[in-house]
Amino acid sequence: MAKYILGIQSYANHDTGACIIKFGNNIKPELVAISEERLIRKKYPYTFPLHSILYCMKHFKIKKFKNIDLIVSDWIREKKWHRSGPSYNYQEFDYIKEKLDIKKTKLIQINHHLAHAASTFYSSEFKSSAILIVDGNGSDVETNSYFLGYGKKIKLLKNYKYHGLGAAYGAVTKQILNLGTGGEGKTMGLAPYGRFNKKIKINYENKNIKTDFKNFMLRMPNSDVLNHIHPNYRANTIRQKVKKAEKSNIMNRLYRDWAFMIQNITEKTMRHLGNDIYKITKSKNICLAGGVALNSVANEKLFSKSKFKDIFIFPACADAGIPYGLALWGYYNYFKQSKKIKFDNAYTGINYKEIEIKKVIKLSGLKYKKINDKEIANLISNGKVIGFFNGKSEYGPRALGNRSILADPRRKYMRDYINKHIKHREFFRPFAPAILEEKSNDYFKIKKSPFMLRVAKCKYKNKIPSAMHIDNTARVQTVNKKQNPRFYSILKNFNLITGIPVVLNTSFNDAGEPLIETPTDAIISALRTNLDYLILGNNSIQLNLIAKITKKKLLSKLLNIREKKIYRDSKLSIKLLTKSYSKIEKKKKILEGNKKAVKRVLKDPILRMKNYFKKLKKNSKLFIIGTNDHTRTLIKIFKKDLSKFKSIKYFELKNNDIYQNKKKIKIFDKLNSIKYNKNNNYFISTFQYSEEIKYHFSKKRINAFNAYDNCSRSIIDYAFIKKYNNKFKMYQKII
Ligand SMILES: [Fe+2]
Repeated sequence: MAKYILGIQSYANHDTGACIIKFGNNIKPELVAISEERLIRKKYPYTFPLHSILYCMKHFKIKKFKNIDLIVSDWIREKKWHRSGPSYNYQEFDYIKEKLDIKKTKLIQINHHLAHAASTFYSSEFKSSAILIVDGNGSDVETNSYFLGYGKKIKLLKNYKYHGLGAAYGAVTKQILNLGTGGEGKTMGLAPYGRFNKKIKINYENKNIKTDFKNFMLRMPNSDVLNHIHPNYRANTIRQKVKKAEKSNIMNRLYRDWAFMIQNITEKTMRHLGNDIYKITKSKNICLAGGVALNSVANEKLFSKSKFKDIFIFPACADAGIPYGLALWGYYNYFKQSKKIKFDNAYTGINYKEIEIKKVIKLSGLKYKKINDKEIANLISNGKVIGFFNGKSEYGPRALGNRSILADPRRKYMRDYINKHIKHREFFRPFAPAILEEKSNDYFKIKKSPFMLRVAKCKYKNKIPSAMHIDNTARVQTVNKKQNPRFYSILKNFNLITGIPVVLNTSFNDAGEPLIETPTDAIISALRTNLDYLILGNNSIQLNLIAKITKKKLLSKLLNIREKKIYRDSKLSIKLLTKSYSKIEKKKKILEGNKKAVKRVLKDPILRMKNYFKKLKKNSKLFIIGTNDHTRTLIKIFKKDLSKFKSIKYFELKNNDIYQNKKKIKIFDKLNSIKYNKNNNYFISTFQYSEEIKYHFSKKRINAFNAYDNCSRSIIDYAFIKKYNNKFKMYQKII
């Protein structure tokens, strides 16, 4: 009998989705995976993957949710299913999780970085490999993890927490360049327009697995229940004050240079991490995942300057790939399956039959005719811009020839034209070349890059100007026959016609819209953009002949149909997946859940401190080690509790947690002047540097009290919120 494993994330993530694996005796294992944003047509949804699960279940004809044999999920902050993210606000996501109609025994949770590691290592062809994960933050606020993969096993070697590269890159993207959630790719595109700028100081330290940005930004977690309740409770993570860019001035020297500087540091840091994990593993191979692995330029630097012989980067290496990694982990580790699930291509979506495609075209009333690959290549060579819908959709953010906009890379104007008139996006965004794999070495110093995650300099920049970046590099996609026979055939035909084995390939979507998934999405997106032709399977629709008014009417009709279907599917999925779902109960639970989360984040550290002081004997000696501003806040809050001690010694770190001005604490000493004694009471009085102080004491084999855990906010935040409530954006006025 067939068994089914479902992989889903445990918290409201911007990249939610689902993956189901079907397997069993004498059954060839098969999987389907999809991101929620594609199905609900909204980027960064933060909602429970109702539609993705339904999509996968429909594909395998799974009638009841109970028929799923195992759910594998990650954990965030705490290893428990209900309220797995205590520092996050309670949303419908959490309520649906509670109401899922499945036995708890069918549920397992693994570390977030382990899921990333599983996604990349199990998809590679390596028997053993070093695995490097770098992202915003993992289960226990890890930012970098080293794993070793061998056979079916994945072993954690080391990790680093708190001040990571992913968070720093994200902070520059959002807080300085103003390019929004998921805008990191835009920063990467902008970087080559900038140059080294002495005035921009991004302090960081790379040492072993540590990539420490503590002097540049505040540590995590800073995205939690508080800023969901009010945006003013979200701390400005970057320590220096830089005026945010706007659309109109993003090309100012300063902002271009910021993009350049953070990109430059990212490349150096990834190179450093590559060399460091090599030193530890001495592996021939490296697998990458985590959001930072989308930085194809940095990947290239890492690989080219390392001793690794081969590299594999999973196409959905950011959190979109987590459901897939989770399901695979369950397959190999929980069910201990030995049959390898091969990852020959990135097309993990479902197939749309010709009959379904025709039905949609007919419903739209658009004229269509049959088209073959040679004719498609011909259209492209004649300068036509094509929306191309073919077979199963791609996993991850890159369109790899099944949901792509294709154009002639020889035409220089094409880049600006597509950016401006078709995709309605920033002019500095580059396009990628898709090239016949066997010809790749002729154009680029790269043999294989099937998922567009590697970058190379082009040997003939004048031959394919619109598929190059300003610095003559390109994010290459190599295509072979096995991987995608149809796309390969189009490239082959284009080469026969033009002598160029390259086609410009960019994702089939409008600005701010997720990649298209269904034939209806393809028509809607095509009507919104200025595409010349839309190819749906083997059918061609000439769009430039349709009158504007007809387009407008049809667009509104199709949008209406789609919206209704999304609504119906939400209802259907809730019915199928949950038991005793109630809107009233949901509302109540959201209120209660958020109260609990605020307590956990803000009040619990204070309580723990209070209990600690209470527990100590009257007249005992207390050593407070920390930063000036944190300790001053501590003294203010605990004036009464501290008065019971016979003596308090203060030891002060060089830096402050947040405030720039240092005010004197009555008596203070330097950290290295502490005379250690196991019988003394050591209290860590810093949030930003608590990990380092903890490490300092653990080296001396002395216990020091730390009130913070992986979801706490600092007592400085507590004091700030108490004093200002939500009047000011956190720290804006006082840094
Ligand atoms: Fe991640």
